[in-house]
Amino acid sequence: MTANELRQLYLDFFKSKGHAIIPSASLIPENDPTALFTTAGMHPLVPYLMGEKHPAGQRLVNCQKCIRTSDIDEVGDNRHLTFFEMLGNWSLGDPSTTFGASYFKKEAIEWSWKFLFDKKWLGMDPQRLYVTVFMGDKELGLASDEKSIKIWQECFKKNGITAEVCPYNTSIGGNRNYRIFPLPAKDNFWGPAGATGPCGPCTEMFYDVSPEKGALRKTFDEEMNAFRVMEVWNDVFMEFNKNSAGQYEKLSAQNVDTGMGLERTISVLNGKQDAFENELFYPLIQKIEELSGKKYGIKITSPQPSPFEGEGEDVTRAMRVIADHIKAATFILGDEKGLTPSNVGAGYVLRRLIRRAVRYGKQLGINEIFTFKVAEEVIKIYQDIYAELRKNKEFIVNQLVKEEEKFLETLEKGLKEFEKMKPKFTPLRPPFKKSGPIEYGWSGDDLFNLYSTYGFPIELSIEEMKKLYETFKDETGIGIVKLSKDDEERILHQFHEALQEHQELSRTASAGMFKGGLADASEETIKYHTAAHLMLAALRKVLGERVVQKGSNITPERLRFDFSHSEKMTAEQIKEVENIVNEQIQKDLPVVYEEMMLDEAKAAGAMGVFESKYGEKVKVYMIGDFSTSSKDNNIFSREICGGPHAQRTGMLGRFKITKEESSSAGVRRIKATLD
Ligand code: SER
Repeated sequence: MTANELRQLYLDFFKSKGHAIIPSASLIPENDPTALFTTAGMHPLVPYLMGEKHPAGQRLVNCQKCIRTSDIDEVGDNRHLTFFEMLGNWSLGDPSTTFGASYFKKEAIEWSWKFLFDKKWLGMDPQRLYVTVFMGDKELGLASDEKSIKIWQECFKKNGITAEVCPYNTSIGGNRNYRIFPLPAKDNFWGPAGATGPCGPCTEMFYDVSPEKGALRKTFDEEMNAFRVMEVWNDVFMEFNKNSAGQYEKLSAQNVDTGMGLERTISVLNGKQDAFENELFYPLIQKIEELSGKKYGIKITSPQPSPFEGEGEDVTRAMRVIADHIKAATFILGDEKGLTPSNVGAGYVLRRLIRRAVRYGKQLGINEIFTFKVAEEVIKIYQDIYAELRKNKEFIVNQLVKEEEKFLETLEKGLKEFEKMKPKFTPLRPPFKKSGPIEYGWSGDDLFNLYSTYGFPIELSIEEMKKLYETFKDETGIGIVKLSKDDEERILHQFHEALQEHQELSRTASAGMFKGGLADASEETIKYHTAAHLMLAALRKVLGERVVQKGSNITPERLRFDFSHSEKMTAEQIKEVENIVNEQIQKDLPVVYEEMMLDEAKAAGAMGVFESKYGEKVKVYMIGDFSTSSKDNNIFSREICGGPHAQRTGMLGRFKITKEESSSAGVRRIKATLD
């Protein structure tokens, strides 16, 4: 079966169950300042899972392009990918009716079963299925998912398979009846996609990829980590919303969100054991083989035992990382949002993906500008499904070449810095003396500084250091000295500790974002969000009250804002809007909100852009001077909005409109920055 066939079958199956097919959304989330990329099929559907009506109805199905970077260090094993496609079907609960078009656990699980095992559909072997369910969590106050267990047991039973529940963390010990595995929240409570939003218990389907090895023996976790079983599908029962205080609130309606990993599923359907063994990767691997003159570590045309044995491991891993990262970079660059590599937010992730691929390329001995060549293969594979890749091909190629060149320059600069550091390098303990505490001239911290300031990769630092060691004579005064394996490990360890501490700090910073402790890229996006409110109010003052917002897109670097207006703005109008916004910023006005009913908010003159997205009770954000008694007259902006926002306008910096252009008929688009 090909990936194209699998995509089509999935859509057809759920269409036959009354689902409307919806297109893949952009990879860059539209209205979620808590996430840089679309991480799952449900991500663009968050407002609808929260209770809004979807225009296409209550049953939806699609194939969504996704980026997940949380597992970036795992990429290279048999199943982790940065870019992947997710097939998904959804039921949007309708709080106003008990019945209606929505469905829940029973239908979701039964349809998963039917699609996987029915001969008319995927025709997989149910004897190879193992499922996990949520075991509940007392601390979080969440119950175990007994209902799903029952439904699975019935499905198994209808197919003549006894399905028993295997107690948590117990060895399976060859008992073929153990089919259902209750796992804790970290495994079987899914979501939210960003920091807040809909989430719920889930049940995951795992397929035995090596049935010839006999019955499973270890604990489920161990079998999973040994790549014996591969997760192919996840059914999530979204009943909760995680709020900004970290609490789980019951949603107004029960929803279903399922996700099937396309790459993994197509591989196991074809008898392969890893997500790279399919036609969505073969041409990329072949191109990398050609560029490097090295061979992929396992034969990619037939199922093989573990790919992690023998000499091919490093090469295989490097090739997988390059293929994965360049594919992800190609899709990000090819997205209509036109994101480019930078030092903040999503642009930084893009930069990291490209640079990481280049580094692994170097490791394979590729000594030319090459990432665009891999990207061209990516485009060939996907352009019929994702037309944006064909359309933006030139942009993708240009950006990759530019970034790769820049990185090579960085490396050169780093090497120069390294030269400067050389005089400081004295092996305090003669390196040939085996015992005593380590006393080398540079520490992992030094190398971390080089890494964080110049982007100079640790692997290259170690290489340089080895070369340097070899310039020293050993105790005989004739032989050369080698950096010992122990010392190398110690330096690496120190480096990683410094790195971890750094990451820990930035994680804490972004986790603090909703507790008022704004930080990093998120802080920037929040400022832009507030600037957007100021700008809309200013536009209405300058162009008239007919102006309404048509859309907005915010990155940590800029604000893009669409609004209804039919003529090009004059230079004077642009200046005037800028001046008004900057005046409000200079006044350092407080930004506050009040909760009220939608009608009340409208009556108070609050702007509401996408009215259908809001429930009855809404937040109205106000920016103004509340110090005087005639409060209403001094409110500059009043908008229905979920937030979050900067606390005062004074935090925003200087506002500047960088572009004003047509977006579509009767809609203008402004790009603006804060300095
Ligand atoms: N949201 C779930 C996942 O990403 C199911 O779609 O696995």
